[in-house]
Amino acid sequence: MSQTTQNTRLIRMEGGYPLEGTVRIQGSKNATLPVMAACLLVSDKCVLRGCPQITDVMYMGTLIKSTGAKVEQTMGVNGMDIVIESTDIQECRLPSRYVSAMRSSVILMGALLGRLGEVYVDYPGGCVIGERPINLHLYGLEKLGAQIWTEGNHIHAYADELIGTEIRFPFSSVGATQNTILAAVTAKGTTVIWNAAKEPEVTALCAFLNQAGADIRIHKDFMESGKIVIHGVELCRLHGVDYCVVPDRIVAGTYLFAALAAGGNITLENIPISHLDSVCEVITGMGGIFSYHADNNSLTLYAPNRSELRNISYIETDIYPGFPTDLQSPLLAAACVANGKLMIKEKIFSSRFKIIEELQRMGADIAVTSEECAIVTGVSTLEGRNVIAKELRGGAALVIAGLAAEGITTVSDICYINRGYQDIAGDFAKLGARISYD
Ligand code: EPU
Repeated sequence: MSQTTQNTRLIRMEGGYPLEGTVRIQGSKNATLPVMAACLLVSDKCVLRGCPQITDVMYMGTLIKSTGAKVEQTMGVNGMDIVIESTDIQECRLPSRYVSAMRSSVILMGALLGRLGEVYVDYPGGCVIGERPINLHLYGLEKLGAQIWTEGNHIHAYADELIGTEIRFPFSSVGATQNTILAAVTAKGTTVIWNAAKEPEVTALCAFLNQAGADIRIHKDFMESGKIVIHGVELCRLHGVDYCVVPDRIVAGTYLFAALAAGGNITLENIPISHLDSVCEVITGMGGIFSYHADNNSLTLYAPNRSELRNISYIETDIYPGFPTDLQSPLLAAACVANGKLMIKEKIFSSRFKIIEELQRMGADIAVTSEECAIVTGVSTLEGRNVIAKELRGGAALVIAGLAAEGITTVSDICYINRGYQDIAGDFAKLGARISYD
């Protein structure tokens, strides 16, 4: 989170102007967090380059420090560099205040079980975007031999020894897969995970751990079977690494939908192109034209004129490589000003339509037809309003709507947006938008 965004609560913009220019995509939030957790397994210095400067990364840094590790953040050439040195960690009780503030703190369980054999943590609780149980996390850890007690809101997990085994997830969960991998890396023997999540943030975690000396093999038919084989290594075999975080596919997608909604041509540098197939397919269907430049890994989107922007008829969110749930709201915002109708089905999280009320206040025509389906009928224009962010991706989508709307829009409670976007207003300002923090 930049200094500018830290002390502000509002983003103000005057919409209706096309975007034009180039921005660099920040490092991925959802790849950085598990890799930071993984540093707890390594009794040495790890350098993570290109991390995003956002609240969730700061919270994770605080949680990691609470175990006794040293965490230092410095501004690097491309984003923030974080140095984590976990040589002398001994504390396995994670402070409730930060655990409850950040759901993904639960992935520290696998790392601390692997390193210290014990962890005390609070239930991370529900979330604005829907029920977020952790039964699959606990299932994976128990299968590896952890004993887990829960009392009220508290969880205590203990393992004399973690032992490799076969784990078949009933359905794909990013966090449960990452937690299980973290615990299995130093377990005795071999762990085979079936139906592991295939999101790039899972393979990025495996790449980091392998670079640090782990033995994780992603099966050749991984995209079908979700099979990952982990040969446990001794803790002392893991060593420090210098690692570059992958760019954020969700931030890239957010900016692409913003360009569709506002019009114009934008170029995104540091683009995770291979992670964006389903997103580019939707944008092409809506009339966008792409040009990818392999020499400097950048992607230009030529957005159609508003009169030629059209809705595709149907999209459902899905696990990777399907269309990401985290981009459902940004797509929804762009769909509000495209010709024709789009039916959106949200299959991953149950409460991701909270943003609709705010979009309707801006003049959007959206009908919620069931808990998981909404139909958007494009309107010729949205009107600027004072709207409130209620969660991260919905908040970013309100900024997109504001850029497309006529007149002034303010988005308040931007603390939610700052959890995942390092400098959303600064980036859109670089793209020529009339936008600032207030
Ligand atoms: N689920 C269970 N039991 C579990 C775990 C998950 O029922 O033990 C369910 C969830 O309720 C959900 C589905 O499984 O319906 C998928 O959840 P998953 O575990 O894959 O999600 P996650 O690990 O909690 C990560 C990202 C989310 C992203 C999802 C899906 C991080 C820190 N978070 O969450 O990112 O939406 O995967 O791709 O990696 C965001 O960045 O805004 C965000 C919410």
